[in-house]
Amino acid sequence: MLYLWLKAFHIIAMVCWFAGLFYLPRLFVYHAMSTDEVSRERFCIMERKLYRGIMWPSLILTVGLGLWLISLNPSHYFSQGWMHAKLSLVLLLVVYQFMCGAQIKAFTRGENQRGHVFYRWFNEAPVLALLGIVILVVVRPF
Ligand code: HEM
Repeated sequence: MLYLWLKAFHIIAMVCWFAGLFYLPRLFVYHAMSTDEVSRERFCIMERKLYRGIMWPSLILTVGLGLWLISLNPSHYFSQGWMHAKLSLVLLLVVYQFMCGAQIKAFTRGENQRGHVFYRWFNEAPVLALLGIVILVVVRPF
């Protein structure tokens, strides 16, 4: 029973995390295209609030609940190839989140050099991670 509750909240936290992972780089696209100071300042506030208020708490919940799930049966999960692959992709997502934080800092200091096309491509990385992780945990190909 505990297992099912943990899994339900793990998935809910993951959905909240991905809402931020998809929306924040979208804000970077519009931010990089904006030309007036009022819009730029508004984007800085929106980005900071999303990053600190939604993305970090839901990352911590997703990872915390995931580790709790693993602790229910560690020898089983660590013997599975798909779990190792999944954890590697999650690690890349955490790195991606830190990269987002660095972008926010660059925008806030007015030091951003990148254009909207870069952020359109940057936006695709979490899509690939989501595809990979969900296929790994559901299909378990290895
Ligand atoms: C360090 C981070 C994470 C850990 C330790 C972790 C661990 C786990 C564990 C142990 C399960 C239970 C597997 C089972 O017995 O069915 C699980 C389920 C699941 N996880 Fe994660 N997870 C993490 C991050 C993520 C992320 C980032 C996503 C989404 C992109 C995700 C998506 C899922 C899904 C969809 C399930 C349900 C699978 C099913 O019931 O078929 N997890 N996770």
